[in-house]
Amino acid sequence: MEPHLRNKLADTDPLISQALLDEAARQNSQIELIASENIVSRAVLDALGHVMTNKTLEGYPGARFHGGGQFVDVVEQAAIDRACELFGCEYANVQPHSGSQANLAVFFALVKPGQRILSLDLAAGGHLSHGLGANLSGRWFEANHYGVDRETGLIDYDQLESQAVEIKPALLIAGGSAYPRVIDFERMAAIAKKIDARFLVDMAHIAGLVAGGAHPSPIPHADIVTCTTTKTLRGPRGGIILSKDGGWRKKLQSAVFPGVQGSIHTQVIAAKAICLGEALRPDFRIYAQQVKENAATLAAALVAQGIKIISGGTDTHIVLLDLSPNGMTGKEAEIILSRANITSNKNPIPYDVGNPEKWAGLRLGVAAATTRGFGQEEFRWLGDIIGQLLMKRSDDAVNSARGKVKEFCDAFPIYGEA
Ligand SMILES: Cc1ncc(COP(=O)(O)O)c(C=O)c1O
Repeated sequence: MEPHLRNKLADTDPLISQALLDEAARQNSQIELIASENIVSRAVLDALGHVMTNKTLEGYPGARFHGGGQFVDVVEQAAIDRACELFGCEYANVQPHSGSQANLAVFFALVKPGQRILSLDLAAGGHLSHGLGANLSGRWFEANHYGVDRETGLIDYDQLESQAVEIKPALLIAGGSAYPRVIDFERMAAIAKKIDARFLVDMAHIAGLVAGGAHPSPIPHADIVTCTTTKTLRGPRGGIILSKDGGWRKKLQSAVFPGVQGSIHTQVIAAKAICLGEALRPDFRIYAQQVKENAATLAAALVAQGIKIISGGTDTHIVLLDLSPNGMTGKEAEIILSRANITSNKNPIPYDVGNPEKWAGLRLGVAAATTRGFGQEEFRWLGDIIGQLLMKRSDDAVNSARGKVKEFCDAFPIYGEA
């Protein structure tokens, strides 16, 4: 056998090998509260490191542009079938390399350059792939945004309707990265219908909650739904496009390939099939419910510590803190938490402007730690300790938090021995 087919990473590339080991140790010893992260199953990891990665294929199952695709066809067809069963759809495309790619393909299929789109403002919790000026979506389309009510932090659907009637976008988009509340998909679909727009829901963050029955599904209401397989769905990095209406098939198939992508990431599609299979099992429903309860517990514990939460709570896995009353930026909060081995990210809050260094928000998410086994007791404690860290900002608070974080991390290990 050729040496490069036989030798282990540790022997051939010590730099990368060590970084991988360090990352595994970091994940084990820190509490992960970044809302877009999760901890995939050992089965998903197995697929991601599989020799299926060597296979190049373009096209779709049964209609490929290269030979030797029979086993990848099994995998991709299983992923499609499972996605349709899980979300109750007629159509699924599991090829998008990411959530942004999935959105790009939908834009390619539905909207022409220069046409208007209407999506949630970034500071109100939207996503950059929904028309940010620096993103292709903001260059191609005339992007307009709706916000949230300054007092409640909630989407004001009457206001949104007036805006939609005035702007008349070709595409109305729901969903985002930091909106912690249930979105009224039915109302938004009615608004889209009224102005003869298409309706896209990007459920990247909440897909796992929808799959597990812990959040209303957008599928009956939207023309098209996109999501990532990361985040609450607990799968590999990648995207999916779904529709209740099989009539979109032709347009969406060609929008993904050859529209915005070439060959598929074969091993990732295997991992997607596995995570979709996992999400079909009864224990995933328990997980999704636990995520929701843990987030509500975390939010309540933070409020009890005097921390302001956007919208006063959460219906999802996301808790968005407003640190402006504490005279603190999200960046400062992120740093204090990281000193205690709690990982989070600074985030804009509604009406935040400009420089990310000055954003007043900190976004927390409970999906990863819930996968690890954390329940309400652990999240109640986390809320207390995060509140203390943010209020006191002292070395004493950091040191006592670090000790407790270590206890929890040791009690809920990740993956065990490699
Ligand atoms: C709502 C939403 N859509 C799309 C994406 C993009 O996904 P990706 O990072 O896989 O491109 C994200 C990522 O965080 C997201 O939150």
